Amino acid sequence: MIELADVTKRHGAGTALDGVSLTAAAGEFVALVGPSGSGKTTLLKSINRLAAPDEGIVRVDGRDVRDMPVTELRRGIGYVIQGIGLFPHMTVAENIWIVPRLAGTPATEREGRVAELLDLVALPREFAGRMPSSLSGGQAQRVGVARALAAGPRIMLMDEPFGALDPVTRDELGRSYRALHDSLALTSIMVTHDMAEALLIADRIVVLIDGRVRADLPPAELLSSQDPEVRALVDVPRRQAERLHALAEGR
Ligand SMILES: Nc1ncnc2c1ncn2[C@@H]1O[C@H](COP(=O)(O)OP(=O)(O)OP(=O)(O)O)[C@@H](O)[C@H]1O
Ligand SMILES: [Mg+2]
Repeated sequence: MIELADVTKRHGAGTALDGVSLTAAAGEFVALVGPSGSGKTTLLKSINRLAAPDEGIVRVDGRDVRDMPVTELRRGIGYVIQGIGLFPHMTVAENIWIVPRLAGTPATEREGRVAELLDLVALPREFAGRMPSSLSGGQAQRVGVARALAAGPRIMLMDEPFGALDPVTRDELGRSYRALHDSLALTSIMVTHDMAEALLIADRIVVLIDGRVRADLPPAELLSSQDPEVRALVDVPRRQAERLHALAEGR
């Protein structure tokens, strides 16, 4: 469904992506983790052509994305941008309707479709008329997901969609998004800083360090990786889980 073949992206003297190859099969849920500045956002943007690689090829459904009309490409790809990114002067419904409106979907479909999308992300339908400033962080993130789903994409690219939330809300949103991914048969790539979240939600985890793929493994295999840099990332949630387990057992 999504394939990057030896993709390099430079910014001036720096290299954001350095020969990245990866694939996400239809229906797969891939988490992308790595330190700040490691190229995660750039990788997502190379898929929907918000960034143009200097070398390498990005394919969606077997087609080189450069050969696809950009509107067609982006209609098939929902994008949840880093940070909440709702337009503050637009209602929730207007925010959700941005892409369908640009695509020329008749306004008569708006109310019904927005209601459906609010249902999907488990927000009350009355939220359609609210302004973003009146939403909690978690509610705003849900609207961001609804907006990305509005054009009925088969692929979702999510850049820290549940960042800056309390752990309970984060866990709840993560699990409800995973259920949505499964029920809509989406292909999802989700950037997260939270290794525990990645291990618990994704089918596969790609670790990006300095613009290179350092590991690309299912959660259980990532946990047993011997790579020191990967170990450093997974040791934190592993030790926390062990300590919590010991605590619960009264040891
Ligand atoms: N438009 C740009 N112009 C110049 N440099 C850029 C541009 N976009 C990204 N970079 C650089 O490319 C590198 C990778 O950036 P990117 O945003 O992909 O990182 P990231 O992994 O998403 O980081 P974070 O976790 O902080 O969001 C960084 O060094 C960044 O400064
Ligand atoms: Mg980023």
